Amino acid sequence: MIPTRDEKEKLYADAAMRIQGLLSGETDLVARMAGMVSILHGAMPHFFWTGFYRVVGDELVIGPYQGTPGCSRIARGRGVCGTAWEQGAIQVVADVHAFPGHIACDPRSESEIVVPVRDCRGEVIAVLDVDSAEKAAFDETDQRWLEQILCF
Ligand code: SME
Repeated sequence: MIPTRDEKEKLYADAAMRIQGLLSGETDLVARMAGMVSILHGAMPHFFWTGFYRVVGDELVIGPYQGTPGCSRIARGRGVCGTAWEQGAIQVVADVHAFPGHIACDPRSESEIVVPVRDCRGEVIAVLDVDSAEKAAFDETDQRWLEQILCF
């Protein structure tokens, strides 16, 4: 089920507060990723797969995630995640089947949002990848909240 815009606002506001509480004082990157994924995945009804891919050398390597087993490694520029990394730009894909080179880790995935994560120098160090089992599940509300939560 895709929440309405108003429902998304409430769900994200509540999740953001819980994430801030959980991560307060935690500096380890993987621990922070795991906490964010756990809360977001449980809170948002339209999230089917929620996880991080970390930049390791010239590839993305899977990090903390919730959902069915994801692909372990993605090359720069490949699929939605590799494109978000290469372009340093958020990707909102309403229909993954229409995205050239989309990597289908789970055939039930229909739409997707990928948000780059940057270090303090502005380098992309990871991407947050969220998939939905419904088409066009993500919009400007998801984009704005996910970008904000990644800054915590
Ligand atoms: N959909 C991604 C691949 C990762 S999985 O969906 C977990 C992509 O095309 O980048």
